[in-house]
Amino acid sequence: DHGYGPDIDHVLLSEEQIQGKITELAAQIAVDYAGREVLLVGVLKGAVLFMSDFARALQLPTQMEFMAVSSYGSATSSSGVVRILKDLDRDIAGKHVLVLEDIIDSGLTLSWLLKNLGSRGPASLEVCTLLRKPDAVKVDVPVRYIGFDIPNEFVVGYGLDYAERYRDLPYIATLKPEVYSS
Ligand code: PRP
Ligand code: MN
Ligand code: MG
Repeated sequence: DHGYGPDIDHVLLSEEQIQGKITELAAQIAVDYAGREVLLVGVLKGAVLFMSDFARALQLPTQMEFMAVSSYGSATSSSGVVRILKDLDRDIAGKHVLVLEDIIDSGLTLSWLLKNLGSRGPASLEVCTLLRKPDAVKVDVPVRYIGFDIPNEFVVGYGLDYAERYRDLPYIATLKPEVYSS
């Protein structure tokens, strides 16, 4: 557990559950995108582990691009202000773009991102998120592929951080309350 053991409250999704879901999502997406070349757009930094495992599971030729946006800083809830920290390196006009996210919480990051990417003229634009929280369901963001709907608790691991820590955990877990107060 990379030495994080004492901070972990409970494991929400095990490594096996996550990898099993990625296999399922990749199988579905391989069918839906058969014959097309997919441009995966990973949203840094949270989606980096998901992107890496998903690209290997997907039995299709893919290209990879990354975009870094941040709406959270070190807080545990969204500020609503989305900043581009790193833009895509190239044009996505005419490409079949599949955005990969680790989590949709308020939906603010994604709704902003979809408007932004949609204006660049992709041939298609869909979203695959590993996790989705209840509030995101209320926001009108079209998400084609969803790994797990999870309860409204703050979770870390498998790319998700609290103050930049815990991204390297292979599972998704909640933290003990004292971690937030120290
Ligand atoms: C987190 C997460 C999503 C976004 C979801 O990213 O990885 O990208 O917040 O929140 P929302 O639906 O409420 O907008 P964060 O801004 O923390 O940056 P990071 O990926 O670098 O951790
Ligand atoms: Mn993120
Ligand atoms: Mg974060």
